Amino acid sequence: MSKQVKIRRNTVPQIASRKGGEPIVSLTSYHAHTAAIVDKYADFILVGDSLGMVMHGMESTVGVPLDLMIMHGKAVVRGTEKALIVVDMPFGTYEESPSVAFRNAAKIMKETGCGAVKLEGGKRMAETITFLVERGIPVMAHIGLTPQSSHVMGGFKTQGREEESWKAHEEDARAVSEAGAFSVVLEGMVEPLAAKITKQIDIPTIGIGASADCDGQILVLEDMLGLNEWTPKFVKVYGDLGPAIERAVEQYAEEVKDRSFPGEDEVYR
Ligand code: KIV
Repeated sequence: MSKQVKIRRNTVPQIASRKGGEPIVSLTSYHAHTAAIVDKYADFILVGDSLGMVMHGMESTVGVPLDLMIMHGKAVVRGTEKALIVVDMPFGTYEESPSVAFRNAAKIMKETGCGAVKLEGGKRMAETITFLVERGIPVMAHIGLTPQSSHVMGGFKTQGREEESWKAHEEDARAVSEAGAFSVVLEGMVEPLAAKITKQIDIPTIGIGASADCDGQILVLEDMLGLNEWTPKFVKVYGDLGPAIERAVEQYAEEVKDRSFPGEDEVYR
């Protein structure tokens, strides 16, 4: 007789309890196939709105619609069984009011089956974070370089280069922690500031272009796989999939053109 053991997904409290403990491993993923691979190693997987740029050729994340996030969120949930799945709330779906944010976050959770949502903003989003958490929606916050505000920030700029600006970032971190976020992404932030914030707040910090001292790290999968021609300076590239795909496509094109492409007898052996 065989006994089926159901593997349970990592939960929000499990991730939150990793503060100051074993570093949290996370990556983005946008579809079922890569998510299934990432699932073996990641504590949580983020369906990031970076998919607008990485998968859909947009210039920024500002144009990403809610339905696209839901479609990719569903695929990632289907492809995984262990990691906590966090789905980004895209620009324009949560800033207006806590009730608009609740309606859209609930839609994301109901339709994708994910375990939490992420939204950008510090102090200004604290009221919304509390509103969502009190109504059953776990929230991961995101401060520092917040790509959805790139038009206001004047581009994708590392935050905290002048020490006078640190106070505002520290206040943002404290505000989202006190509002009930279970963790916070620190993106594009000078190292000593990210390390300082990590010591100051009670929830895990997840760094991206921030500090090795954060409680965890996240990278955009396609960046670290070497799939994008351009990657931010801070990204360590672990693979060379871009050139590998090109080599494969080139070989295929050559075989088709010179008719050395395998015939039926070779393919269906
Ligand atoms: O959208 C995204 O991929 C993100 C990560 C860079 C943290 O927010």
